[in-house]
Amino acid sequence: MLDLDHRLLSPSILSADFYNLGTEAENALHCGANWLHIDVMDGHFVPQLSFGSKIVADIKRHNKCFCDCHLMVTNPEDLIDAFVAAKADLINIHAEATYHGDRYINRIKDAGCFAGITINPTTPVSSIIHYLPLVDMVLVMSVNPGFSGQKCITYNFDKIRELDNIRKDKGYSYKIEIDGGITMHNVQTVLDAGCDIVVAGSGFFGLDNDGKRQFADMIHNYK
Ligand code: DX5
Ligand code: ZN
Repeated sequence: MLDLDHRLLSPSILSADFYNLGTEAENALHCGANWLHIDVMDGHFVPQLSFGSKIVADIKRHNKCFCDCHLMVTNPEDLIDAFVAAKADLINIHAEATYHGDRYINRIKDAGCFAGITINPTTPVSSIIHYLPLVDMVLVMSVNPGFSGQKCITYNFDKIRELDNIRKDKGYSYKIEIDGGITMHNVQTVLDAGCDIVVAGSGFFGLDNDGKRQFADMIHNYK
């Protein structure tokens, strides 16, 4: 179970300058980021390619920060072992990307990692109801995955509220993460809805260091 003292910021390094990735990652953490969000794209489940498990292994050799891995790939089961070996802390797979989600969520957990289930904007919460007692996290996409810098699709905020109500009702322990188009201007709304972990790419890396700290503080100081 993911035990959190307060709400967290998980910046997506997809929006960092890859030429200076180490510096960008260290700086994000220095400015108050809690985790690093690692967007893995296969050019099939989503149109673009990004990076694979080596990036996690390299980050972990230099910094023990929590790596929150988001696998935007078809057949995520093919990559689970590699991400476990790279010492990923949390592995999110898409409900739309596999036929055997129960098996792979359990495989991730048995390997000692936290496991998350992710849903695209048009995938309803009702379709993942059987995952909810099993997972450590539900990742709600508020853009169609594949690119950073897209406009937030706000009807997804209702899913945060729905997931928050279900966990209270049933006593489930999963955390709720939102990803896509989140900025300092709409973060309050997702926190109010019950979101625990905020992913931000362009809305975080596009800020100067004072802005980055302010964004992190808004999340940490949320009551
Ligand atoms: C979308 C990725 C997101 C994205 C976030 O495919 O999963 O994590 O990089 O970037 P912004 O915050 O710019 O939408
Ligand atoms: Zn992501």
